[in-house]
Amino acid sequence: MAIPRLVACLVLYASFGHIPSSLGVILRTTDKIVWANEFEPIELTCLIESISTNNPRIEWKKIKNGVPSYVYFLNRIAGDLEHRAQLREPANIMIFNATRSDTAEYRCEVAAIDDQRDFDEILISLAVRVKPVVPRCSVPEAVTVGTSTELRCLENEGFPASQYRWFHNSEELPQDPKNSPKLVNSSYSINPDTGGLKFRRVRKEDAGEYYCQAKNDAGHAQCPSQMMEVYDVDILGIFLKSFGGVTVFFCLAALICHSFKRGCFYKKGHIENNYNWPAQNDGVEYADADEGHFRHKSSFII
Ligand SMILES: *[C@@H]1O[C@H](CO)[C@@H](O)[C@H](O)[C@H]1NC(C)=O
Ligand SMILES: *[C@@H]1O[C@H](CO)[C@@H](O)[C@H](O)[C@H]1NC(C)=O
Repeated sequence: MAIPRLVACLVLYASFGHIPSSLGVILRTTDKIVWANEFEPIELTCLIESISTNNPRIEWKKIKNGVPSYVYFLNRIAGDLEHRAQLREPANIMIFNATRSDTAEYRCEVAAIDDQRDFDEILISLAVRVKPVVPRCSVPEAVTVGTSTELRCLENEGFPASQYRWFHNSEELPQDPKNSPKLVNSSYSINPDTGGLKFRRVRKEDAGEYYCQAKNDAGHAQCPSQMMEVYDVDILGIFLKSFGGVTVFFCLAALICHSFKRGCFYKKGHIENNYNWPAQNDGVEYADADEGHFRHKSSFII
């Protein structure tokens, strides 16, 4: 007999314990900070812990950059989420296909006029992860040993912002070359936030295929690999660069002069021959001759 009485007491105590809360509306959520992936569904929970009012008024607002707008108002989805979301029991918002523009704060507000405490609200922050797109990478085609150079990698879509990793001949470069016995003498440094791969002094061994990967919690993307060649100090190149113009000028001048000279000589010789040739026949007649006469003379000679 004693045990059922105790149970009854406990039940009574338990219901008394709940009485104060049932006098007011109290909201709760499973997550105040929600991460969702873009193009995936997400539910923002607004659970009603206690309420006595039968038909409470439920509203949801979206607050972006401090500006509130309705997303659930007068029992229907409105604004940004129209046709993209649904209210689910008790007061959750279900977004069918989250987009990056849904990143914002959302406030669930419940008004229960028959309750003593007739209003409660709860703030939920939603962040939609966005996959990185293929980063733009710039790798110099050719650099000279001992000079400095920077390889760049950047994409702007990913959220949260991408972190960058570089690969040399398909092997990931550790952020600090000192951590790899093979790369200990390389002078590079990587900034994983900006995507820069800087060499203070390029070595022959730094030549090869480079590509970069942008990564965040939503995914990753990489640029196609590009070749970087490393040349020794190029004396001929420097010479050609500094003196190339002058050299080309002199070469051209010599060439033109030479061919001009040859041309003049050839022409002169030809004219002399012409003079010599008719001179063997009738020089005076040839010089003054009209065409018909010349032809006659020529055929005569032939
Ligand atoms: C979500 O929206 C995107 C772009 O509007 C669309 O390409 C994708 O198919 C949608 N996904 C689902 C599951 O509806
Ligand atoms: C790094 O440089 C040191 C000193 O010049 C040399 O002894 C060592 O072999 C080099 N290591 C590599 C991996 O090239």
